[in-house]
Order: sequence, then structure tokens, then C-alpha cells
Amino acid sequence: MGSAILRDVSQDDNVPQRPNPDDGIPPASPAPGLIVAVDGPSSSGKSTVGAEAATRLGYRFCDTGLLYRAVTWLALERGVESTDLAALVALADEVRLEADDQGRLCCVQAAGRDVTTEVRGKAVEAAVSEYSRVAELRAALIPRQREIASDGAIIMAGRDIGTVILPDADLKVYLDASAEERARRRAAQRAAEGMAEEAREEQQVLADLKRRDTLDSTRVTAPLRAAPDAVVLHSDALSFEETVEAVVAVIRAAERARAGGESGAYGASSASAASSASSRSAAPGGERGE
Ligand code: DC
Repeated sequence: MGSAILRDVSQDDNVPQRPNPDDGIPPASPAPGLIVAVDGPSSSGKSTVGAEAATRLGYRFCDTGLLYRAVTWLALERGVESTDLAALVALADEVRLEADDQGRLCCVQAAGRDVTTEVRGKAVEAAVSEYSRVAELRAALIPRQREIASDGAIIMAGRDIGTVILPDADLKVYLDASAEERARRRAAQRAAEGMAEEAREEQQVLADLKRRDTLDSTRVTAPLRAAPDAVVLHSDALSFEETVEAVVAVIRAAERARAGGESGAYGASSASAASSASSRSAAPGGERGE
């Protein structure tokens, strides 16, 4: 891909355009908050960046990977194989996400039990791609995700949010980073959490990430990929703070475009985020293709 890492989508058909200021019709209401899809590969920062951006914007945040993790945890607990479709689909009714006091849907319930910690464990980590590729399970979780998003003012993160779950989202962002950079960040995070042993295993982390990238992007149903109308943000050379700022900037710009606020609002903000992202993203190897 080229050097324009963050694409200005202000001319795209699906970006709400400001109304004609001379038509005398005021906007129906101030923007209540957009529906924003954020997709990207494992450890690209979708959850941490998305959650922080949501907090700054006063939006809710939903990491849809937690639904797949919760079903996987329950399936392992009950010995349900990924090939037992009827039993697997039934498990979807038993998982729920609950919001914390900031509107982050980060508390995971499965069969009435709080499994927020367990869904991050090694057993789920190893098995979740196997379960999440099952088309019947994915179909069962679609209405749930759409219902969560329907009230607006939400950032919803996942793999197929912009392509399948919310194809009419107000804004789509695809957050990308090279596998090497994602492995480095994950190892650093583990070291910070005191998991020295795991942190030393950066090569193993990299191999695991590549394996999951392959599984997620080559599966038949809803493979990981950027929607054609997504703003692609490559974060290899961006700090966490810079990445959050870039995401907040494109959302603010899209809000202004929708509310019919300042002239050229969308283009102005996204252009500055674009130039900062692209000028810092000249990482060796350039942007990964998906
Ligand atoms: O983002 P994560 O690592 O928590 O996702 C866990 C798994 O769920 C991973 O295998 C990808 C899958 N997933 C998916 O297929 N679709 C989503 N919308 C979110 C996650």
C-alpha cells in the first residue's frame, strides 16, 4: 500500500455530508454520537485504543472479541466441540457483556458467572480462533452485536464490524500494525504485568500472532479485512497516545461532517491526522496487506 496510511474519506459516499446551509432546514438534532466500527488484527490495539477513545468522546465501547471468548470459555468448560453446531449455538444465549460505570462493555458473564478474567487465559486464547470461525456461531451473535450498537454513540471493535456486523456504520476505522510490532507490544505488556517468563518469549508470541492472523483472515465466514470505505490507520510508528488522538480526530471530524458544522470540518481534521500518521509510519517493510 502507499504512503497515505490514513485515508481521507470525506469524499466517500457513505460519509454523511453537511446539509446545504442555505436550505433553511436545521439539522434534525445535534449529533447524538456516531456508530463507529473499529477492526484490525490481534493486538493491533483495537481494544485499548478504542476504549480510551470512547472514554474521551463520552461513547460506549464494545470489544466483540469478548463474546467469542465467552462462548469459547463456556464450550471448553462444558466439553462442547466446535463441530457440535447445535450445542455451540445454544451457548451464545448464555453469554452477556455488562457495562462498567464508563459504559465499557468489559464485564463478561457466562452461564451467570463472571468470567472476565478467565476469558483472557491461555486455554481460551489457544482455542478461540477455532470456535470463532464457525459460521453458525457467528450468525447467532450478529443480532446481539447490532442491538448493542443500535443506540449509537459507540465504538465497536472486532474483525468484521465494518464488513458484516455494521456495514452502514457512520465511520469505519481499520487499525493495523505489523506482526513484529504487535508482538513487541504484547511482550512489553506482559513484562509490565510481571509475567517475565512470557515476556521473554517474544518469538513465540510472534508465531502465535501470525498463526491467529492467518486463521482470522483466511476463514471462509467474515474473514478479517478492512472494509473498502474504512479509514486505515497504521500504528507501527505511533505511540498509544498518538494512536488514540488519531482515532478521536477522525471521529470528531465525522461528527462535525454529520452535524453540518464547520465547513470542510471532516477533511481538515482527518488530513492533519493523516499526515501525522503517514509521516511517522514509514516503518521498514511498510504497511502490511490484509
Ligand atoms: O480480539 P480478540 O483477540 O479478543 O478476539 C478473539 C477471537 O475472536 C479471535 O480469534 C478473533 C475472533 N473475533 C472475530 O472473529 N470477530 C470479531 N468481531 C471479534 C473477534
